[in-house]
Parts: sequence; C-alpha cells; structure tokens
Amino acid sequence: MPSPTNRRPARKAVIPVAGMGTRFLPATKAVPKELLPVVDRPALQYIVEESARAGLAEVLMVTGRGKAAIEDFFDRTPELEAALEKKGDQARIDAVAKSTDVAQVHFVRQGEAKGLGHAVLQAASFVGDEPFAVLLGDDLIDARDLLLEQMLAVQAEHGGCVVALLDVGAENIDKYGCVAVEDAPQNGAGEGDTVVAITGMVEKPKKEEAPSSLAIIGRYVLAPEIFEAIRSTPPGRGGEIQLTDAILALLEQGVPVHGVVFSGRRYDTGDKLDYLKAVVRLAVEREDLGPALRPWLRSFVGDLPPEGASQA
Ligand code: UTP
Repeated sequence: MPSPTNRRPARKAVIPVAGMGTRFLPATKAVPKELLPVVDRPALQYIVEESARAGLAEVLMVTGRGKAAIEDFFDRTPELEAALEKKGDQARIDAVAKSTDVAQVHFVRQGEAKGLGHAVLQAASFVGDEPFAVLLGDDLIDARDLLLEQMLAVQAEHGGCVVALLDVGAENIDKYGCVAVEDAPQNGAGEGDTVVAITGMVEKPKKEEAPSSLAIIGRYVLAPEIFEAIRSTPPGRGGEIQLTDAILALLEQGVPVHGVVFSGRRYDTGDKLDYLKAVVRLAVEREDLGPALRPWLRSFVGDLPPEGASQA
C-alpha cells in the first residue's frame, strides 16, 4: 500500500554529479564529465531542461570535488551578457540566459564519492517528505521521448518507486542494475513504452544469472522512504552505497516498485562511444548544423573502408 505521502505528486528533482568520471579520463581531470559539450550545450543542461519540461523546475545538484565549474555554469554572467549586448548579439544572450533561467538550481556537496545511493542521501533535507525524481547527470534522453513524464504519471497512480528500464540485451546486462519483473507487462504507458511491476533487482549480475535483460537507466521517481532505506544500506559492490540496494530493500518491505520500459533514444554521455553517437545524432538533426553536416557525413561514411579492412 502506498503511504499517504506518496500520493503527493513529485515537484523536485535531484541530479547527482559527484562521480569521478574515470571512463572519460584525461578529459575529466579538469572538466566535469557532465559539462562536456554535446554539440554546444553541456550534457547537464539538456538534463536540467528535461526536468523543467516535466514540471520539476526545482533542482538539487549533488556535487563534489573538482565540480566547481558546474556551480559557475548555473550562475548568471553579467560581464558576458554585457559584452554580447554591446555586439548586439541577442541570440547568444538568450542562449546564455537560458542555461540559468530554465530552473531554480540548488547545490549540496557529497564530500566523498561513496556511491549513487550515498549521493541521493545528501538530498534528504531538500526533498523532505514527498516523492521526487532523480536524473543522472550523464544520461541523456532525447527531448522528443517523454520518459520522465510517463514515470511521474506511473508514480502518481501506484505510489512507491518507479525506475526507467532499457532492454540492453543479455550480452550487456552485466554492466547494469538488472530487474526481475512480473511476466505480463501492465497497461501501456503510451509511445510504445510499457509499464512493468518489478519483483527483484540485482546490481551488475553475471550474465548467466541475470533475471532479465532489462537494465535500470538514469531516471528514477522515488518515495521519500528511500532515505531511511539508504541509511540502513551497507556498502555493496565496489564498496559503494548502491541506490539499487536501497530500492530493493523498499520492495522487500512491500513498497510497490514499477518500471517504465523505454523504447526511445538514450545516450550515456559518460561512455565515449555513446557520447560520440549523441553528438552526431543531435547535430545531424539541428537546423543550423544539419544541412551542412549531413552531406559531409554521407560522403565520409561512403569513403570508410569496410570493417576488417586495414586502414590506410
Ligand atoms: P557512474 O557510475 O557513471 O560513475 O555514476 P562515475 O564515477 O560518475 O563515472 P565513471 O564510471 O567513473 O566514468 C552514475 C551517476 O552517479 C553520480 C555520477 O556523477 C553519475 O551522474 N555519482 C556516482 C555521484 O554523484 N556520486 C557517487 O559517489 C557516484
């Protein structure tokens, strides 16, 4: 049974950005991976815009060491705006202002990168006693695919927690948090996505032991009871306090946990290959860049030697 507090709609979002970004070294020695540009905007800006679009314009970022540039990014920049004003460059003034005005952004520090669960715990006093969303700072969902909106609707209907799921195939599931689900997908959530009731969860299972090929990706809508569950969660895989373990503890206490199986476009911008795909895909579709980029890309791809042939 969902508790009465869970019936309130979520209004706030938490974006953990305190991870070390080791997959993107050496770039991430000095630049947080969440600020790496996807075309001309930091990955993180797309995520804040997604949150605001879904009605969650109050955002808490959980930052840490080496992430000060993220705080600077969300400050107004009067000197820059004045310089652009002098040049009469209104388009760029608007672009710069938009990055700050899209949401009310707050910050808290994690102190030590002790895992995603520990990062989310730092949001307890910001969130209070209501459901809230968590958007991972390096997971980009295409703006045309309304994943978070669907998850908020599922949480409002069922209470408890909702996670985003992606079928990554049995061969890749060992890199993700994986879920066991009730057989029959429940009512369709629209746009080809389905809603499933989750019966179990395991972080980075061995391929042969995985209960499904459904992986948890970087969007969650969580009941406030998650904070107590995180406090009682011991460090798990890699010595980190895993959010998956805390959600599993709630599930075992009888809190409903649902998944929205996403069928749209998603990029893990913390992964080099996915990052490149995101930049190309989004640039190709942009009105200002697409017309020049598309013919170049076609000819570039046409000139590529077949896979397995030696490169000149
Ligand atoms: P990742 O698993 O991608 O870890 O974290 P990472 O350290 O950032 O990156 P790699 O794997 O070393 O390249 C998923 C999300 O959780 C946040 C990260 O910032 C990212 O958004 N996170 C992770 C924290 O905020 N704190 C942590 O202690 C761990």
